[in-house]
Amino acid sequence: MTIFDPFKVKNITLPNRIVRSATAERIAMQDEREGRQLGEIYAALARGGVGLIISGHNTVHPSGRLYPTMASISSEGNFKAWRKTVEITHEAGGVLFLQLNHGGGRCSKNAESTAVCVSLLPDFPKDSMLGAELDNEKIHELIKAFAAAARNAREVGADGVQIHAAHGYLISQFLSPLTNRRQDEWGLSLECRAEFLRMAVREARKAVGDDFPLGIKLGACDDDPAGLRLEETLQVAKWAEADGIDFIEISGGFRKDLARRHVKPGVNEGYYLPFAAQFKKELKIPVFVVGGLRSLEKMNAALSAGQCDAVSMSRPLLCQPDYPRILREGGECRCCGCSLCLLKQTQPTVCHSKNK
Ligand SMILES: Cc1cc2nc3c(=O)[nH]c(=O)nc-3n(C[C@H](O)[C@H](O)[C@H](O)COP(=O)(O)O)c2cc1C
Ligand code: SF4
Repeated sequence: MTIFDPFKVKNITLPNRIVRSATAERIAMQDEREGRQLGEIYAALARGGVGLIISGHNTVHPSGRLYPTMASISSEGNFKAWRKTVEITHEAGGVLFLQLNHGGGRCSKNAESTAVCVSLLPDFPKDSMLGAELDNEKIHELIKAFAAAARNAREVGADGVQIHAAHGYLISQFLSPLTNRRQDEWGLSLECRAEFLRMAVREARKAVGDDFPLGIKLGACDDDPAGLRLEETLQVAKWAEADGIDFIEISGGFRKDLARRHVKPGVNEGYYLPFAAQFKKELKIPVFVVGGLRSLEKMNAALSAGQCDAVSMSRPLLCQPDYPRILREGGECRCCGCSLCLLKQTQPTVCHSKNK
C-alpha cells in the first residue's frame, strides 16, 4: 500500500491517502473576497495532489475566537465566503472538510469580555485559563454551537467536518486534568471530562445526518506528565467511535508542541506514529496521523506497517502546496520545520522561509 492509493472515508472516495491537516489561514471569512482568497489556496492544494483538505480551525461561537482573523462558520454571515471557497475548491477537484473549534480559556487575550473557560485558572504556570467559568446552561449552548456549525458546514457545501479536540483548546481543556478542575458532572472523572466532546459529536451527527463525514482531531497525550495519558485518550476515541465519528486524526501537544520544530526528511519524522498505531489497534474507523511526516519512505512504511490509514501534513504544504506531486516525482521537501509560519497571527498564514 502507498500514500497514492485511493481511500474511502464514509461515502467519499478520496484519490489518495494524503491529507492537508488543519492549518489556520487567518482569513476571517467575512465576505466573498475572503472566500475567493481561501478558495485559491485550497485549489492550489487540490491541483498539487492533496487527497483531502481540512480547513483551518473555524470558531463555532463568537466566544471561541482566538484572534481577530480566526475564521468562523458560526453564522449565516459567513455563508457567502464559505460558498465561494467550496465552489473554487470543487472546481479544482478538491475535497474539503471544515474544522470546528472553540478556543475556550485561551481566548482571553483577544476577547476579554466574552471569553469563557472550563475552570478559572489565572495562575496556571504555563498558560493561564481565563474568562467566565462555564455554567451548565452555557456548556449546553456551546455543544449546540458545535452542532449548528456542523450543519452550517453542510449547508455551504463542504464535504465533511472535523471537530477539534486537540492542542489545548476548549474540548481539549475539558478532556485534560490540567485544565478541568471542575467538581461537577463535567469534571469529576474521565467519563465526565469526555462528556462535552461526546455530546458535541452526537449533536453534530444529529445535525448533519447519517451520510455526512464527521470526525475528530485528538491529542494522543498532553505534553505534561500530569496531563491526559494515552490510556485515557484511547478510551475517549472508543467512546467517540461508538457515538458515531467516521474518522480520527491523531495529533498531540497541549500547549507549545503542536508543530514540533526542526523536522525534516529523516529527522524527527512522524513523531505521533507510535501513538497512532495504538489507536489503529483499538478502532475500526480510519486513523489519520499528523506530526512531522515528510518522506515518502516514512509515510509508505507507516501505511504498510498498519500504523495509520492516511498521512496528514501541515507545514510542508504551506511551503509547497504541490508537495504530493513533488513526492511522487522524487523531489525535495523545502520545509525546514522552523515554525515561523505560526508566529504572525495578524496576517494571513504564509511560509516565511527564504529557502522555498
Ligand atoms: C501555521 C499553522 C497553523 C495551524 N493551524 C491549525 C489549526 O487551525 N487546527 C489544527 O488542528 N492544527 C493546526 N496546526 C497544526 C497542524 O495541523 C499540525 O498538526 C502540525 O503542524 C504538525 O504537522 P506538520 O509537522 O506536518 O506541520 C497548525 C500548524 C501551523 C504550522
Ligand atoms: S515557515 Fe515555512 S519552512 Fe518554516 S516551518 Fe513554516 S512552512 Fe516550514
